[in-house]
Amino acid sequence: MRQYLKQDEWRIIEEGFSPDHHKASESIFSLGNGQMGQRANFEEAWSGPTLQGSYVAGVYYPDKTRVGWWKNGYPEYFAKVLNAPNWIGIDVNIDGETLDLFKADKVEDFRRILDMRSGVLSRSFRVTLKNGNTLSVKSERFLSMTRNETGVVKYSVTPEKDCKIIFSPYIDGDVENEDSNYDEKFWNILKTDVDEGKGSLLSQTKKSDFQVAFAMETEISGIDNFDIQTVKNETFAGNHITIKADKNQTITLIKYVGVCSSLNHKPEELTAAAKKQASEARLLGFKTLLEEQKQHWENIWNLGDIKIKGDVAAQQGIRFNIFHLNQTYTGEDERLNVGPKGFTGEKYGGTTYWDTEAYGIPFFLMTAPQKVVRNLLVYRYKHLQKAIENAEKLGFTNGAALYPMVTINGEECHNEWEITFEEIHRNGAIAFAIYNYIRHTGDIKYLSEYGLEVLIGIARFWSQRATFSHDKKKFVILGVTGPNEYENNVNNNWYTNKIAQWCLNYAREAIDIVRRNHPERFDEITEKVNLDTATETSVWKSVATNLHLPYSKDQEVFLQQDGYLDKEQITADELSPSVRPINQHWSWDRILRSCFIKQADTLQGIYLFEEEFDTETIRRNFAFYEPRTVHESSLSPCVHNILAARIGNLDKAYQMYLRTSRLDIDDYNHEVHEGLHITSMAGTWMSIVEGFGGKRVYKDGKLRLSPIIPGQWKEYAFKIRFHEKNLEVKVTQEEVEICSHADEKISLILYGNEISLAPGKSIKEPINVNYHA
Ligand code: BGC
Repeated sequence: MRQYLKQDEWRIIEEGFSPDHHKASESIFSLGNGQMGQRANFEEAWSGPTLQGSYVAGVYYPDKTRVGWWKNGYPEYFAKVLNAPNWIGIDVNIDGETLDLFKADKVEDFRRILDMRSGVLSRSFRVTLKNGNTLSVKSERFLSMTRNETGVVKYSVTPEKDCKIIFSPYIDGDVENEDSNYDEKFWNILKTDVDEGKGSLLSQTKKSDFQVAFAMETEISGIDNFDIQTVKNETFAGNHITIKADKNQTITLIKYVGVCSSLNHKPEELTAAAKKQASEARLLGFKTLLEEQKQHWENIWNLGDIKIKGDVAAQQGIRFNIFHLNQTYTGEDERLNVGPKGFTGEKYGGTTYWDTEAYGIPFFLMTAPQKVVRNLLVYRYKHLQKAIENAEKLGFTNGAALYPMVTINGEECHNEWEITFEEIHRNGAIAFAIYNYIRHTGDIKYLSEYGLEVLIGIARFWSQRATFSHDKKKFVILGVTGPNEYENNVNNNWYTNKIAQWCLNYAREAIDIVRRNHPERFDEITEKVNLDTATETSVWKSVATNLHLPYSKDQEVFLQQDGYLDKEQITADELSPSVRPINQHWSWDRILRSCFIKQADTLQGIYLFEEEFDTETIRRNFAFYEPRTVHESSLSPCVHNILAARIGNLDKAYQMYLRTSRLDIDDYNHEVHEGLHITSMAGTWMSIVEGFGGKRVYKDGKLRLSPIIPGQWKEYAFKIRFHEKNLEVKVTQEEVEICSHADEKISLILYGNEISLAPGKSIKEPINVNYHA
């Protein structure tokens, strides 16, 4: 753990200057607006350790695969998120010396703040340069959520002695990815252009041919006389603005930037579009743009804030998670998705993992308008053909679809055989998300429009992937990796088999629904996908009904996979803290042979299909698996929190909550410098709403709540959307209050009792800590 940030309900605050924290802070203070994002790199020069990162949503480069031992079926290339041209840069030169905090004589009063209420990043400090001049510097910047092709930087310098200041605002296309496989640069710069107070740069990705234009306009205040010189080369467009400043005179530069990509504009119109964004922003001015920004965030918080009273660390933690999720994905564009690192780092290469469906969707379903999740589902629909091709490459036929483990454009971006070929449970999460969306929204039409085709492709995959064991007289699924990546090539992973069985059954159910409700569309689909309905569905039924689900009679638990109990059974608390995390201390061989579980696996299945199990079954499985779980994936604690709360183990639930909510702020795993864990942030939200709040929607499609509250909190309150109606739930140590913010009646089940709320009305009930289910 590394705790250097101050606790505050709405802000992340760093006080005091430490180059050692710099890369971690670059991640934590990252900004985004759904269309673009960037790490909190400094505007002025910085020669210390850094990961420069500026990203444009949906823009990728197919980097040639690099592996030690090539396996047939690996992708030749994989799409990688790109570090794009740097548009925030403003070099500052004082009497010939470049301002660089890494080289300065003294840095005092350093303060960096991320205001989550408005999405503004600010910094202030006093710096003494080698030439003896001391300056006070303030910067503020934001990526407009309202105008998602606009960014603004305001930078002020107040020298303590008369001096010559040269501000050099610029756009720089000479950038690279740290994770480039062959040290290649991924961009060609097609054109740079400059004028007084202006600059633009048109860039194009190599191979994938995306184009992105950047344009800046600058404004100086605090002085009337200054000299501007333009400066450009093949990859750089900037200005030198020379100012004679008096001591204590504050000079401010505002840089308005437009960033437009060929995903949204015709290539020939890009530069003009970016210039238009920059000049419109300049005409509106910093103040107006900031007002818009505040308003936009206020609307987001009104829909999805969580308030916690009596625990500032927990409050800051949950807001940090909600903030980053909303600036990563806004749901307007079905070509985009939510990457595990969002706009905060390069790790994980592509963007889309099963994380989106298993974690992201439950969050967006209940905090954002319906179209947001619909777009995430359509994203996968659009990749169906590629998933079919991916499965064909591995030997599957007849339209069987295997979605990639990681992707941006539908193609597989992963190349470790035990994951690429074996971690096939991802297909299940994609099918489950369709069901989850429908049960939360009632949008059954989605099945006939898009969902059914995906479900058929996935069911075909599972029916072919399962094989019949004459020994067991059951269908089996061999050679897989479950969510627990600390075991590979196992047979009959319970979670994988369970979700495969569910997919096969749900695909049949979906066929019936579409056939009944939209017969013409059903005929269209069966023709398109060449479905022999009776024959294929009877195979699916037979595989599902006879699928082996390993169980230990001795332990009375579902067995993570065949043979799991052959392993030496020890628990994580028997491990010395000096070997944790085990993935940083043990050989891979030792990890594979141990019984330790990376993340929720069997419990992930119990979480998804909870309504099938009674409390005792959940309790026994939790008591068996949790002590063997080392939680070395950020996706793990939240599922444990939810199940711990479900079985009434509030202490464990709280312990798991703390682990998930401040994972990045407190850098639990010493890796925050690589970027944030964006997808697990959705799990943190789930911990409160589904864990402590007990929110569920079962097969009957009804909203259920059964809140409990940790002893450490005075009160917590969350807002949720269900069938496009908004509710607020407040929980104190004594009672639960549910307020309707909808304009129609809302029905729900509170602690097992059906209630309904008229528009704008609220209801209070005593808290019932003994209610489970
Ligand atoms: C986890 C996967 C997850 C991936 C991206 C891995 O460490 O084991 O379940 O999909 O990270 O978040």
